[in-house]
Amino acid sequence: MKKKFVLLTVVAIVAALSLSVALAGCTTVDMSKAGPEEIKAYGKLVVATSPDFPPFESLDDAGNIIGWDIDVAKALAEKLGVELEIRSMEFDAVLSSVAAGKVHMGMAGISNTAKRDESVDFSMNVFDSSQMIIVRADNTSINGPMDLAGKTVAVQSGTIGNWLADMDEDYAYETNDADETVAILGQPATVTKLSSGMMAIQQVKNGQADAVILDKLPAQTIVESLNKEGGAQLKILETSVYDDAYAFAIGEGNSSLKAWIDQALAELEKDGIIDELNAKWFGSEE
Ligand code: ARG
Repeated sequence: MKKKFVLLTVVAIVAALSLSVALAGCTTVDMSKAGPEEIKAYGKLVVATSPDFPPFESLDDAGNIIGWDIDVAKALAEKLGVELEIRSMEFDAVLSSVAAGKVHMGMAGISNTAKRDESVDFSMNVFDSSQMIIVRADNTSINGPMDLAGKTVAVQSGTIGNWLADMDEDYAYETNDADETVAILGQPATVTKLSSGMMAIQQVKNGQADAVILDKLPAQTIVESLNKEGGAQLKILETSVYDDAYAFAIGEGNSSLKAWIDQALAELEKDGIIDELNAKWFGSEE
């Protein structure tokens, strides 16, 4: 009886200890510093994304995360010889997860900006984009960025579209030839922040918002599919608001991972893999 009790106590202590070690392990791994060798030792490349942004990342009918970023992530994991773990979250959590070291990389059509570069680092740029305005097809009052003045603009929270609509000083102004700081869009009266570009576009479709500011390819993909379903109800204006370029986000100061990724991307480019993925996801457009 006594022996059994001792044994049980020992078992309980060992279990408690190993649980706390496991928990400590979870909370103390700071992935923002992991270079390629650490990732190989870890056995997994952990990537954060927000799968609401076709053709870069979205969910297929079966609920799998698919897209250009995801295929590039797979190619990078393969080069490292590790498994790929994709963590799905809202867009504004992608950048904060990278900064907090909860993941190795953020791959989510992330625009490389000087402001963001203060809290994360970026790979080389992988895609040129621009911020477009979407309105109802019968809208005649909004014909360019300045016409957003006084309007209701819907955006995906935490995106460049959000910062532009909020007239954020880091995004919504430029210096003109006369060395004056001027706004690049008209100041909206109301900015509605939603968790996806699709939800923002739905607001325009049903008349709750006048316009959406969204990245070009996702705008084209979503507008095309909605117009196919319900008649040509939406249009994308020709004049863009802002030009940007996407890159992959990694931990601030993680120069060994940056060097490895840039080298790997150059190889994927040279081996024609990037061209293949462009053709697969962007069709004839790029
Ligand atoms: N390019 C824009 C930005 O960086 C939007 C990205 C949104 N990405 C997404 N997966 N929803 O702010």
